[in-house]
Amino acid sequence: MQAIWNQTNEVEVSKSLSSVFAESSVSEKWTLLKQTSAVLPSVVAGEKLGLFSVLRSPLSFSQLVMKLNVSEKGLDALLQILVGSNFIRQDPSSMELQLVDGSFFDLPRVATWDLGWSVATQRQFYYMAESVAAGRAIGLTSTFGEFDSLYTARAAMPEIAKYWDPWMQRINTDFEVTVAPLFKLDIAASYEVLDWCGNTGGNAIRIATAYANAHVTMLDLPEQCAKADVAISKAGLQDRVQTLPYNLLSPGLDLGHEVYHAVYMIHTIREWSYDHLARFFKAIYSALKPNGAVLMDMLTGHQYGVYTDSSADAAPAYFLTSAAHEQTEKFHGDVIDILTKAGFRHFRFTEGSKFLRSYQDGANLLAIK
Ligand SMILES: C[S@@+](CC[C@H](N)C(=O)[O-])C[C@H]1O[C@@H](n2cnc3c(N)ncnc32)[C@H](O)[C@@H]1O
Repeated sequence: MQAIWNQTNEVEVSKSLSSVFAESSVSEKWTLLKQTSAVLPSVVAGEKLGLFSVLRSPLSFSQLVMKLNVSEKGLDALLQILVGSNFIRQDPSSMELQLVDGSFFDLPRVATWDLGWSVATQRQFYYMAESVAAGRAIGLTSTFGEFDSLYTARAAMPEIAKYWDPWMQRINTDFEVTVAPLFKLDIAASYEVLDWCGNTGGNAIRIATAYANAHVTMLDLPEQCAKADVAISKAGLQDRVQTLPYNLLSPGLDLGHEVYHAVYMIHTIREWSYDHLARFFKAIYSALKPNGAVLMDMLTGHQYGVYTDSSADAAPAYFLTSAAHEQTEKFHGDVIDILTKAGFRHFRFTEGSKFLRSYQDGANLLAIK
């Protein structure tokens, strides 16, 4: 059993996959593998078709076919899986169908997570063997074309953005807590903050809302900044949150000199090579005011070839097959080395995000100029 921090800020206790498999016979393992393989795609199909919202009230099979405007043969196949996995039940006397537990689909995380995870992984995982052999995201390129990362693919393809952007935003459940150490540094009365790769602006808005003395600049690809600009005006925060549209793969990154008190790089350093990080840290060092700091998460103490985690978390497969060709786990020591080369002298590990704690070491790194 292990504690998992879920995305509605509750600590859940769940059985790890490794302990379920450890207690199963060979044939039980095989059955589990077969039976679970279609569950996630079926839940995603149910979400896309609107099945779970209409089945809050009981309906017959033919009423359901009409309401969803789908084929009988298709709906029948889908229901065999969703009834078989206990998401939907059929009343044996009326033969009507209904959700088993409506509250499961009320959890705000469910649809956002299923759909985002599905677009980011399902087709890509088919190419896991090729990705493992090459050490590159072959799932990404085989699915979407010659992109360097899912993020640039997402900027170009609305199909991905529609599901992936909200999924990414929802991961940041305890964002204010994660970045709090930056605001506890006794640097200034009013903070100029750079949100590195801030996506659609949700984190920048949360920071400006939580810390009245913060002015946030959010850097990301131009397509993402355009979406963030809309969210920032909706939140009425244009005077304290602005965007910096920039492609970090362009040469000559210059963020200015002594502009920011604080920079946060959340859920982002894993996707870049150490060479790119070295380039970024130099620009950030120059852009920080004296005693300013950069905070980053996604560091690990895990070493290749050593396995102690029994959660069978899917994140490593996502990063490998789908996220970015350059991505690698980032080891504490290696990151501190390149930060030191960029000029940073003081380092502190801070409490990690509670969400991340379930699959990372849970330590965030604060590097002070
Ligand atoms: C994993 S997301 C993290 C988003 C956000 N920091 C968070 O915690 O939710 C990585 C972000 O990096 C941005 N990104 C990827 N490649 C980029 C590039 N070449 N230039 C600028 N931003 C980029 C993506 O658009 C995406 O928003």
